[in-house]
Amino acid sequence: MTEKINQVRVAFDNELSGAVTGDELEQVRVKFLSRNGAIAQLFEEMKSVPAAEKPVLGKLLNTLKNAAQGAFDERKKTLSQSKEQRTRSIDLTLPGRPKPIGTKHPLTQTMDEIKKIFMTMGFSVATGPEIETDYYNFGALNFPPEHPARDMQDTFFIAKDILLRTHTSPVQIRTMEQQRPPVREIMPGRVYRNEAVSARSLVSFHQIEGLYVDRGVTFSDLKGTLVAFAHQFYGKDVKFKFRPTFFPFTEPSADMYISCFLCKGEGCRMCKFVGWLEIMGSGMVHPHVLQNVGYDPEVFTGFAFGMGIERIACLRYGVDDLRLFYENDVRFLQQF
Ligand code: PHE
Repeated sequence: MTEKINQVRVAFDNELSGAVTGDELEQVRVKFLSRNGAIAQLFEEMKSVPAAEKPVLGKLLNTLKNAAQGAFDERKKTLSQSKEQRTRSIDLTLPGRPKPIGTKHPLTQTMDEIKKIFMTMGFSVATGPEIETDYYNFGALNFPPEHPARDMQDTFFIAKDILLRTHTSPVQIRTMEQQRPPVREIMPGRVYRNEAVSARSLVSFHQIEGLYVDRGVTFSDLKGTLVAFAHQFYGKDVKFKFRPTFFPFTEPSADMYISCFLCKGEGCRMCKFVGWLEIMGSGMVHPHVLQNVGYDPEVFTGFAFGMGIERIACLRYGVDDLRLFYENDVRFLQQF
């Protein structure tokens, strides 16, 4: 009889620990703890045991019964709890996990801001290819055949007359070829120059070009437009000056300078102690260029300008190494 009691105990323990669903648990209950279950059976058998053995066996059997019932109740409780936990696995009171949001690259921000200012003045945006022909990059822009910019030193040539554009000015030609005046476009894009990479020069950078051609466009229009831009971009009290320079595709040509907004013209590291910062090249579109796109230079005149985005962004944010814009170090980018 002692043997039997032990067998039932082992069987019960095994089956109980194997039961994971409510149904399995119920099967264990029926098999061992119900009115006709294994334990009730043992009580039945107790009746035919010799009276002398009854106290010891009875105690053993009672212990089994109580332990089994206790273990069963415990198991039932944990199973129902874990089920409850499973359905409540979303804890709405937990603080959210922050997902870092990307931001626009400082060069894109600068570009967008410049575009916005010119768009409010009635310019629209045009683009052109980065792989250009010699004609669009140089020839149509009035560069003479022996001009040094064509040299292998400056230009990445792909084939004899195919190259990576060295400026955004070829988009002027493409734009004018496709429409009749008035033309009022800004042309942002990437350009390439064969230079050693350093804090001050890169092999690839960005420019934004501007072009306005119509009847009776004068140098005053050029000045007025660029000054209006500078006031919006750099602030109302910035001073400016234009200094004569040379570009093959504009005549006359002028570099635009603004008073250094860091030292207000006193002289500092940013302006290399001259008080002025060069911000762009500009000029009246050369009559040859107008002729090359089939515009009559006796009827139409225009102005053009071009600025380097990296340079503008460096001046604006006080960055002293152009390479930082391309390393994409998050610690740098997060500052904008
Ligand atoms: N393309 C010239 C450059 O790369 C800039 C420029 C554009 C100058 C338009 C005058 C007019 O330096």
